[in-house]
Amino acid sequence: MSGRVAGRVAIVTGGGRGQGAAEAALLAREGASVLIGDVLIEDGEAHAASLAAEGLDVRFRALDVTDPEHWATAVETCRTWKGRLDILVNNAGIINRTTVASTGLDAWKRVLDVNLTGAFLGIQSAVPLMTESGGGSIVNISSNSGFSGHYDPAYTASKWGLRGLTRSSAMEFARAGIRVNAICPGLVVTELNKNSPHLQPMIEMTPMRRSGAPEEIAELVLFLASDASGFITGEDIVIDGGFTAGAAYRRVATETGIF
Ligand SMILES: NC(=O)c1ccc[n+]([C@@H]2O[C@H](COP(=O)([O-])OP(=O)(O)OC[C@H]3O[C@@H](n4cnc5c(N)ncnc54)[C@H](O)[C@@H]3O)[C@@H](O)[C@H]2O)c1
Repeated sequence: MSGRVAGRVAIVTGGGRGQGAAEAALLAREGASVLIGDVLIEDGEAHAASLAAEGLDVRFRALDVTDPEHWATAVETCRTWKGRLDILVNNAGIINRTTVASTGLDAWKRVLDVNLTGAFLGIQSAVPLMTESGGGSIVNISSNSGFSGHYDPAYTASKWGLRGLTRSSAMEFARAGIRVNAICPGLVVTELNKNSPHLQPMIEMTPMRRSGAPEEIAELVLFLASDASGFITGEDIVIDGGFTAGAAYRRVATETGIF
């Protein structure tokens, strides 16, 4: 099969829906064999089946990223399935709708467990087989909330933490030929946030005045997973329609008639 990641084997966590589903689909259409892992069994199985019906090499496995045994099974599945692992996309994530004052300890720990510890476990689990495979690419889905405060303190802490984990891992595994980068999306309307009251205000504030599409995030995942980004490691790339570039200054400039 041809394509920008032809012959590679990938794991995409949280690939049953949303951005992860788009990332799994694009990697598969560009020639990768993709293992979708998710706690949403029905969504994951249905997505894998619909991609397989297109003739793509995709399968699903139940994977709770907070469970080291699930990770061991997912990596072992890649070993027995294809004998290699080249790409890991740590995409699974959750969010609270609570503030510092109102976040309970369990809710705080749960977000950090899924968003940050899940990626840590994924990297630890994937690196040995990736190293045996001659190297690879790990892409961590952080957020533009990894550059600022966000009303959910656990979410923003986890996304800042992912940027740090990305850099530590990039340093440690560079000589094994494994690159590790982070993607920091702005607003993308998915099940994660579709009922949130902040959608319209966010779109108004975004210089490009729209939300991103899951397919646009997937394109950046593909770039970082492929050899096109062969000398990039330890980076965090913002993809948010200009929000981080200076949405607040843009608003000030608009309100004062400069723009
Ligand atoms: N939507 C946005 O605006 C936005 C912006 C920046 C970053 N992100 C990040 O993008 C990633 C994807 O989010 P999305 O917008 O597609 O949301 P989503 O809710 O549609 O997808 C998240 C996926 O993660 C899975 N998941 C949750 N807990 C899991 C666990 N313990 N183990 C395995 N899978 C688990 C869910 O089942 C779901 O399939 C997340 O990390 C999110 O934080 C989203």
